[in-house]
Amino acid sequence: LTGHITLDLGYKNTGSTKSAITFLDGEEGILKYRGYPIEELAEKASFLEVAYLLIYGALPSDQELENFQNTISKHTLIHEDMKKFFDGFPSKSHPMAQLGSLVFSLATFYPESFKQNQTYEELNLTIIKLLAKLPTIVAFIYKKSLGHPLIYPKNKYDYVTNYLWMTFGQRTEDYEVNPKIVSAMNKLLILHADHEQNCSTSTVRIVGSSDCNLYASVSAGIAALWGPLHGGANQAVIEMLERIKEDGGDTDKWIAKAKDKNDPFRMMGFGHRVYKNFDPRAKIIKKACDDILESLGINDPVLAIAKRLEEAALTDPYFIERKLYPNVDFYSGIIYRALGFPSEFFTVLFALGRLPGWIAQWKEMKENKEPIGRPRQVYTGEVNKTMSK
Ligand code: SDX
Repeated sequence: LTGHITLDLGYKNTGSTKSAITFLDGEEGILKYRGYPIEELAEKASFLEVAYLLIYGALPSDQELENFQNTISKHTLIHEDMKKFFDGFPSKSHPMAQLGSLVFSLATFYPESFKQNQTYEELNLTIIKLLAKLPTIVAFIYKKSLGHPLIYPKNKYDYVTNYLWMTFGQRTEDYEVNPKIVSAMNKLLILHADHEQNCSTSTVRIVGSSDCNLYASVSAGIAALWGPLHGGANQAVIEMLERIKEDGGDTDKWIAKAKDKNDPFRMMGFGHRVYKNFDPRAKIIKKACDDILESLGINDPVLAIAKRLEEAALTDPYFIERKLYPNVDFYSGIIYRALGFPSEFFTVLFALGRLPGWIAQWKEMKENKEPIGRPRQVYTGEVNKTMSK
């Protein structure tokens, strides 16, 4: 393509594929996984049920769920040699850099994952291993960041409880996972599980479209998610709220900064490419935030700042005209912090939730035998040049 046409660059509104997995209505603030409203799944389902729904297309029966959990339990350990990576990472290196590297490295331990023309059983085992090992990898990254001994999975636990056991359990004393934290984590992971063709999911699909294996494709998705305009926003929100708190909590001053085109400051956690009304996940997370902080008896001063920012933005013409509302990242970090996670860990938790969606979308792309992704461009350079010598 050449010539002078104005393009809305950056896949701002491109129909990149056909998918039957997740439905979004940005104007109405509707989000459905395989036709089920997110509100119903967040209230009634477990994260593993939602993972099964996204990947296999239907909610599992009790027997199917039990089989799924048992199959996953057989693969929760990572290869002991993977632990050598942890000894090589600098002790304070960012968890997302570690996560992307470790997920990519799964292809070195499981070469069958990039065997061409995998059978359904081989492909499914590749999926199961990733689903089973990610919580262990995430928990091990967290324990290593604290300098604590690793806590291995206990297969008597369900998927989310096992993750929390490996994360907060201790070698020196008994530890019972708090059911309220299990419930909050289930809800948070469900709300992050899929979101149609967002930046990281589109990345997983386009990398997979070259017939690249699942582990490398998901590792590319982890890289895309890390960006502060995408999943990295949950870390940026807490850092923004802390800045406002340290600065005296003057939310009007920071709203003015967000509106000032000469000021690089953006209201992190606000705005969305698709939701031009409200992000239905933000409504659920805001309620969960109140509930979990109350049940844990935590009074986090940044929550009050977040609520004041939301109230101010919802009545400010700049935000109203641009349809900027709180998104999924605005309140989630406050819950993660209440659970004890450091802010640089929040996007890793987003990835833990988004994994079933990435897998489901990659699997659908393969099942639909989609061609390799190869977008075109509008060429704006010179066309006829010759070398002078
Ligand atoms: C996620 O796509 C998904 O589904 C993603 C996600 C998922 O589940 O996968 O939902 C997860 O990534 C949520 C978004 C997290 N990111 C943030 O919270 C970062 C802050 N928000 C933005 O930077 C922005 O809103 C985006 C990136 C989310 C959306 O950007 P767009 O659609 O490209 O919109 P834009 O940057 O063109 O902004 C339109 C206008 C601009 O002003 P004008 O040029 O019209 O004057 O709105 C302004 C922007 O300056 N604007 C903001 C703003 N977001 C947009 N102004 C102040 N603060 C903001 N946060």
